[in-house]
Amino acid sequence: MRIEEIVSTTKAQRVAAHSHVKGLGLDDDGSAKPSASGLVGQINAREAAGVVVDLIRAKKLAGRAVLLAGPPGSGKTAIALAVSHELGSKIPFCPMVGSEVFSSEVKKTEVLMENFRRAIGLRIKEVKEVYEGEVLELTPYEGDNPVGYAKAIQHVEVSLKTAKGVRKLKLDPTIYESMQKEHVNIGDVIYIESNTGAVRRMGRCDVYATEFDLEAEEYVPLPKGDVHKKKEIVQDVSLHDLDIANARPQGGNDIVAMLGAMTRPKKTEITEKLRKEIDKMVDRYIDQGIAELVPGVLFIDEIQMLDLECFTYLHRALESQISPIVILASNRGTCEVRGTDGIQSPHGLPMDLLNRILIIRTEPYTAEDMAQILKIRADVENVQLDPAALQSLVETGVSASLRYAVQLITPAKFHAEVQGTDTVQSDSIDMMRGLFLDAKQSSRILAEKSDVYMK
Ligand SMILES: Nc1ncnc2c1ncn2[C@@H]1O[C@H](COP(=O)(O)OP(=O)(O)OP(=O)(O)O)[C@@H](O)[C@H]1O
Ligand SMILES: [Mg+2]
Repeated sequence: MRIEEIVSTTKAQRVAAHSHVKGLGLDDDGSAKPSASGLVGQINAREAAGVVVDLIRAKKLAGRAVLLAGPPGSGKTAIALAVSHELGSKIPFCPMVGSEVFSSEVKKTEVLMENFRRAIGLRIKEVKEVYEGEVLELTPYEGDNPVGYAKAIQHVEVSLKTAKGVRKLKLDPTIYESMQKEHVNIGDVIYIESNTGAVRRMGRCDVYATEFDLEAEEYVPLPKGDVHKKKEIVQDVSLHDLDIANARPQGGNDIVAMLGAMTRPKKTEITEKLRKEIDKMVDRYIDQGIAELVPGVLFIDEIQMLDLECFTYLHRALESQISPIVILASNRGTCEVRGTDGIQSPHGLPMDLLNRILIIRTEPYTAEDMAQILKIRADVENVQLDPAALQSLVETGVSASLRYAVQLITPAKFHAEVQGTDTVQSDSIDMMRGLFLDAKQSSRILAEKSDVYMK
């Protein structure tokens, strides 16, 4: 089993609709500020989410589930993402949407299982032999390439400095490649693992701290002790990272492996057997005190898209020994549970699952809250709104939906630009309201003109 050099498989978050949300905006005593960290109003739900964050940090909530329930556009997804910001990067947070389980290549429960394992972290502490220090010199030496015409790097000389002294190392070209990947420059503090040759850049040496203050560099002190030493290295990985690292055939340095890595692999199912083996290994590491389990958060948005099979699976997974905290979101009232013949249930969740869930309600917004949210969104989208235009947007939000109002901002800006103004006036908003319909208007038209549409 391999645990070194595991590529993280954390999903990148680029949810532009919520890019203004930076956290829950709570005070130290856990009470919600009226407007902070990009969130406005929704006081009860935010405070409840704050308690959930505390419980998660104290590792008291593993294997539990929380449901965010409320009407569309009331900020459920926004609050869940705020929770992820509050938890920081050390606790895994895996977002998914209910409909992701429908894939032609992979079973529904397999998708759920994969995301469950993404949400369970493992902090591995290992003592490794490393060469560590500030880079004083980095000189690649070229020689004739035995297989081609161009020159190739034969070896690299690196001088590393610590508080105790300087040591010069002669290294293999593959280590030079990994140095380039980490963007190692002279003056950086790095370490090289002596048995694998893996290079990690820790930051810039703090003697250079006053050099420029333009970039967001992390400055680290000059390492103490010898250059060659034993060092405790902490690595955060998820169980899914481990699954993936051990499922793919390990590539070498030859051309075939390189091409293989370039053509994206097809989505493979990780076998149950492999997972069992990984779990066994993880158990062993935990017993030996090398690793520590960090239950994170699995967030399933649009939970009503799941069907009975998935719910049953979810229920079972929550009961299992290692389970993350599961946060669900639903905008449904009482409706049919998918995959049953007409069983009605609140939020579209089966009753037995619902019974073990804590529910956080989100309320519809008041006009004042909407005005604030629209202002924040306009700032994020770099749009200046005339007060009358904002008022018009708020009215739209109240009569149609907040989301519809948010979506009108940028199109209205284009209209204003064509008119030759920088600030969006209310006539641009009216224009866009005429061009784009919201759901209610559209369904009214469908009902009125039902005879001209196909059945
Ligand atoms: N309290 C809030 N403060 C700031 N922005 C908010 C707040 N609530 C919602 N928003 C913003 O309003 C928009 C709609 O909210 P969101 O997508 O979170 O609704 P939702 O409850 O998940 O709706 P749905 O049930 O349709 O998924 C988003 O752009 C969101 O960032
Ligand atoms: Mg949502």
